[in-house]
Amino acid sequence: MENQNESKKVMVSGIQPSGDLHLGSYLGAMKNWVALSDEYQCYYCIVDEHSITVRQNPAELRRRSVLQLAQYIACGLDPQKNTLFIQSHVHEHAELGWILNCYTMFGELSRMTQFKDKSAKNAENINGGLFTYPTLMAADILLYGAHFVPVGADQKQHVELTRDIAIRFNNIYGDTFVVPEPYIPKVGARIMCLSNPTSKMSKSDPAGCVFIMDSPDEIARKFKRAITDSDTERCIRYAPEEKPGVANLMNIYSSVTGKTYEEIEAEFEGKGYGAFKPAVGDAVIEALRPIREETERLLADKAYLKDIYTEGATRAQYTARRTLRKVAKRIGFVEKPF
Ligand code: TYM
Repeated sequence: MENQNESKKVMVSGIQPSGDLHLGSYLGAMKNWVALSDEYQCYYCIVDEHSITVRQNPAELRRRSVLQLAQYIACGLDPQKNTLFIQSHVHEHAELGWILNCYTMFGELSRMTQFKDKSAKNAENINGGLFTYPTLMAADILLYGAHFVPVGADQKQHVELTRDIAIRFNNIYGDTFVVPEPYIPKVGARIMCLSNPTSKMSKSDPAGCVFIMDSPDEIARKFKRAITDSDTERCIRYAPEEKPGVANLMNIYSSVTGKTYEEIEAEFEGKGYGAFKPAVGDAVIEALRPIREETERLLADKAYLKDIYTEGATRAQYTARRTLRKVAKRIGFVEKPF
């Protein structure tokens, strides 16, 4: 098992437990992860250290971290095949994050779109962690020698910065890090808000955001209210510029059913938004139902979840420690006596 894994390429990704998981995180990232489990050696992390760049309620952060682990498993990530762990349990992330800070330029960090967005939204708390967030993310990725990083489109810039940092470090000290590539799905990479299809779906607009744990009634209601378009045409046609609302719903429908845009257009030919919106809602309800039910079942067994994150942290740390030792040696730290 171990030898077989050694020869596989490595995937690393993570999600912040700063809000309940939603359809964007599921279709943009997790659904893709499940499909990759057999082919790659995968590390999937609950990035709680990233979450505290924005102020969190401690009890809620703890609850959501364990909930998120249950959701990873409920989505189909087998904990035997995938290393599932909580970031703060593997202190090598923070250590390498610090080191990488010293190989990352102020200008590079200043250009990050997520930093600009989050600083605008949290003007009263633009802390150092928010600024250096991408170097911690680079550490998450580089510690495990990731070849690919399966993420939604909004994280591409961070993965590109990770590449630049890895290349810079390798140029100074010789081959140390694997240079990773973003792995972005063809559909589902950017799910938009149902009530404002020009901004991405996120927890900050709950009316336009479908959460994995929403009840079928809530999901149906959110899709019925989804903004389509004010054009008079009212037909189902994929035209993201002219009809962003319809394009978003088609993207969602395509991601959950596997149907192409042509097939969707044919299916709804002659039918209006009144038929299309509930059909998308029903497809999402059916896609999320087994995940929600399995999550609820798993949450009832806290001891099992603890075993999984303990085992995951042990496995992750084995690899992380090896990388950090190599890095420490390269940069001139005295070898750790323990
Ligand atoms: P986060 O927690 O914001 O989002 C988790 C994942 O979900 C994707 N995503 C979306 N995809 C499509 N449409 C949306 N509306 C949508 N919203 C979120 C994100 O692209 C992401 O893949 N910095 C990362 C977390 C992170 C990470 C890492 C990722 C920390 N360390 C190491 C990969 C590798 C973040 O904030 O994602």
